[in-house]
Amino acid sequence: MSLSNRYTEMVGIRYPILQDGLGLSPTARLAAAVSNAGGLGTVSMPGTVTDPRETRRRLREQIDECMGLTNKTFAVNIPAGRDSSGNLLSFTEPLLGAVLEARRSDPAIERQLRVVTTAAGSPKPFRERLSAAGLIHQHKVGTTAQAKKAAEAGVDVIVAMGAEGGAHISKDNVHTFVLGPNVLDAVSIPVLLAGGIRDGRGLAAALAMGASGVAMGTRFLVSEDSSWHPRFAEALLRMQEGDDVAFAANYGNCRALRNKASLALIPGATPVHVPSAQIYDKLQAMVRAQDEGDIDTGLVLTGQVASGITDKIRVAEFLPRMAQEAERVIAKLARNYPLTLESSAELMA
Ligand SMILES: Cc1cc2nc3c(=O)[nH]c(=O)nc-3n(C[C@H](O)[C@H](O)[C@H](O)COP(=O)(O)O)c2cc1C
Repeated sequence: MSLSNRYTEMVGIRYPILQDGLGLSPTARLAAAVSNAGGLGTVSMPGTVTDPRETRRRLREQIDECMGLTNKTFAVNIPAGRDSSGNLLSFTEPLLGAVLEARRSDPAIERQLRVVTTAAGSPKPFRERLSAAGLIHQHKVGTTAQAKKAAEAGVDVIVAMGAEGGAHISKDNVHTFVLGPNVLDAVSIPVLLAGGIRDGRGLAAALAMGASGVAMGTRFLVSEDSSWHPRFAEALLRMQEGDDVAFAANYGNCRALRNKASLALIPGATPVHVPSAQIYDKLQAMVRAQDEGDIDTGLVLTGQVASGITDKIRVAEFLPRMAQEAERVIAKLARNYPLTLESSAELMA
């Protein structure tokens, strides 16, 4: 059985598995490992600097590092949310500029860096530039209304992320099992499902709903290929159901390990807007956890799926294993639930 479909063909990968954006610490090594293993790796926003030139430089450094480790296709993730005053995040444009400039400067980068995922906010302000550059444009959404708008804006792929996912989630808290079929009914472009996917069973379930693949974050952070501080992965490995918490963030909510850092960001039971300046405190707290391993006062962003993660993977082994598991699940279902004559006729028609 092959899991290739219109998404894998569009992007040029073997397995319909995206390692999704994971800011703020280095992700070049992880992204390259995922792309080398047959999925689509993503280089993510590096660091919390406010100087646009330094933001561009850091992303370029990550792109170059990824290029040095793989000759396969990879993506870059660009958070494109807005702060409580409605302003685009200060790092969005510099990140986009770095991607476009890197592709212009080197034909090899142009060949491999083929996908940009914009996350949160509207994809509209970037659509024309990404399309003119020949990039495949994926946009992340947390609701069906956002998916419809993104499809209307002309993006190529929707990444629909349910509220059990890690980091920024929709304030409407729509979970993957509800969001998936809703979005798939609403748009006709390829959809990847995210939020709560950890293995081949999740991939088979997403394909069964009609998705073209899955996008995963938390699972890939508990990996020998992650460059983050080992205490971050160890904290995820210890997590049980109920150890996470969602708090109101600038755009939507945000899911993290329940600790001093996340509890400090919960002002009350109802979502509130926080002033723009606080974004940087939150980002600094993320860096403390991811780079320094401070999992007590640092912010450990994670999805609920951490409660089911019990091993540290090697991406090169994990990806084929996950794809094979999905294939086995699909084949087993076909064997255990043989078609009735009516369905069989419908399938053949
Ligand atoms: C530590 C962490 C950092 C993340 N950073 C980003 C980011 O910079 N941009 C983004 O679009 N999504 C980000 N996400 C969300 C992931 O891309 C992905 O959609 C999410 O983790 C999927 O849910 P899962 O964790 O259940 O697999 C992050 C998630 C985690 C856990």
